[in-house]
Amino acid sequence: MIKLSDKTIAAIEENATRYPDRNSVLMFGLWKAQEELGHLSPEAIEAVAEAVRVPRAKAQGVATYHSLYWKKPVGENVIMLCTNVACTLMGAETILEHIENRLGIKEGHTTPDGKFTLQEVECIGSCGYGPAMVINETFYFDLTINKIDDILAKL
Ligand code: FES
Repeated sequence: MIKLSDKTIAAIEENATRYPDRNSVLMFGLWKAQEELGHLSPEAIEAVAEAVRVPRAKAQGVATYHSLYWKKPVGENVIMLCTNVACTLMGAETILEHIENRLGIKEGHTTPDGKFTLQEVECIGSCGYGPAMVINETFYFDLTINKIDDILAKL
């Protein structure tokens, strides 16, 4: 079984003081574990459940429901391209195809050097500025082929 670091456990305990019950700290705990371990394996989810003191099935349900929890290893830069309706109408599929060609991978995969993971995601709340994407925690809007090339070159 995976053991979370003392630092992560301390962060979970500190965060738990803000809420009336331990369930409320579950998402934070999963996030901190992902930050520490890179992704949430079943063992990592179990360790979080133990640290937060919630049933393992509950932690598993939350971790698998939310797309920002990685259930398998990801690259250094996780490209989350919105392909929901508004972004698709603005050309997201062309952008997706361009990124796939530039990186030499298909959606859902990671480059062999571990630098990029490419994922399609549902709406990221930037419908008026599509096509839109998030890389790690940075949002990019009004994407064009040229913008993609500039962004990838900088990374
Ligand atoms: S549909 Fe792409 S951000 Fe909403």
